[in-house]
Amino acid sequence: MARDLVVIGLGYVGLPLAQEACRSGLIVTGLDVSEHVVAGLNAGRSHVDDLSDADIAAMADAGFTATTDASVIADADTVVICVPTPLTPEGGPDLGAVLGATRSIAAHLRPGHLIVLESTTYPGTTDDEVRPVLEAGGLVAGRDFHLAFSPERIDPGNPVFGMRNTPKVVGGHTAACTDAAAAFYGRFVDTVVPARGTREAEMAKLLENTYRHINIALVNEMARFCHELDIDLWDVIAAAKSKPFGFQAFYPGPGVGGHCIPIDPNYLSYQVQAKLGYPFRFVELAQEINAGMPTYVIRRVQDILNEDGKPLRGARVLLLGVTYKPDIADQRESPAKPIAQLLRDKGAIVEYHDPHVTAWRVGGETLAPVDDLQDAVAMADLTVLLQNHNSYDVAGLVASSRRFFDTRGVTRGDEAVRL
Ligand SMILES: NC(=O)c1ccc[n+]([C@@H]2O[C@H](COP(=O)([O-])OP(=O)(O)OC[C@H]3O[C@@H](n4cnc5c(N)ncnc54)[C@H](O)[C@@H]3O)[C@@H](O)[C@H]2O)c1
Repeated sequence: MARDLVVIGLGYVGLPLAQEACRSGLIVTGLDVSEHVVAGLNAGRSHVDDLSDADIAAMADAGFTATTDASVIADADTVVICVPTPLTPEGGPDLGAVLGATRSIAAHLRPGHLIVLESTTYPGTTDDEVRPVLEAGGLVAGRDFHLAFSPERIDPGNPVFGMRNTPKVVGGHTAACTDAAAAFYGRFVDTVVPARGTREAEMAKLLENTYRHINIALVNEMARFCHELDIDLWDVIAAAKSKPFGFQAFYPGPGVGGHCIPIDPNYLSYQVQAKLGYPFRFVELAQEINAGMPTYVIRRVQDILNEDGKPLRGARVLLLGVTYKPDIADQRESPAKPIAQLLRDKGAIVEYHDPHVTAWRVGGETLAPVDDLQDAVAMADLTVLLQNHNSYDVAGLVASSRRFFDTRGVTRGDEAVRL
């Protein structure tokens, strides 16, 4: 069966891509190593926040199927790799899944194929790691098949910017590869931005995420001394962002989470250190500051309880919102976990509430959420807002709490303590 597209890796990145391509009339097949993911999708179940079961049904109506059988690659025009790139224990990128997916493609590669890598990785991966595997069978990139990198910019839970209206950067192995990739994405993305080559496209993604990481670290560091100086940093940011040029607002919080911001800049610092022998100092400093925020939150929790004459040991601390972003269920790298762990290590009784998390793994144990939010807030010695989900009536929660610590700058006035 001829198909326009095979998407390898059907997660937070691969599924929205498959969905948008289906919407534009492309015949799409999803390929994943997980039997569980494939069976779920073929039964009409979504496992990512941004797609509902109805979305999966609509994709199926448009011809989408999922499979674990890599032979579907042979009769596709385009293959896009969207598999995970976690960190190795040494801090470098683990390319195992990318290379596994690449080997699957190599086994079915044919002249005319367009192969695109979307997984976030260090500059040079497409050319130095993916290309040799694909070319091992004798076909040559840029001559027999097209090869490109296109960074994924998906922002889970963003109601305004999705696949179609977020400009897509593409960088090909040759100019013709860039043109082929741009033509492909142009079928379902409004704006395609050609980069000079694969390395520039790879680096663009890392610049975007490193920029975010560093700016969040900047305001996190400022949050600490603004507290000491009795300056309201959220008010400062509100004032500064009235400048219509040259400033972009970032906000402090209990730490950074998700799969991208705490991880991606490491690909770059690891590569700079490994290849060039010197550190990428901005990233290392940002990493240190952001990773230290959970410990800072604990210190502030202790200070607040201390003011009430209570030790942390034995205190009832209720955490509100344990995901890494508001209004989604994704808990990857969420700072709520180290915060809960540190609190428990110090003897606090930790409870949590999150409308998106029905069971929460902390330190090898599974916690159940509190049954009744209002009761739990009233009972807790301290309620800590870690994630401001839309469904929270924060003013109401503050009013019924004994003490409220707001790490997101949602509250105004003196009834809550802000970060
Ligand atoms: N989630 C995000 O918000 C986001 C945003 C931008 C970029 N990215 C990047 O996109 C890539 C994918 O991330 P994700 O969040 O979609 O991951 P994910 O964990 O949600 O999904 C990845 C899927 O790939 C499958 N998989 C793993 N190895 C495979 C293989 N060899 N062959 C086929 N399938 C395989 C897994 O079973 C899983 O279903 C990563 O490089 C990530 O850094 C993610």
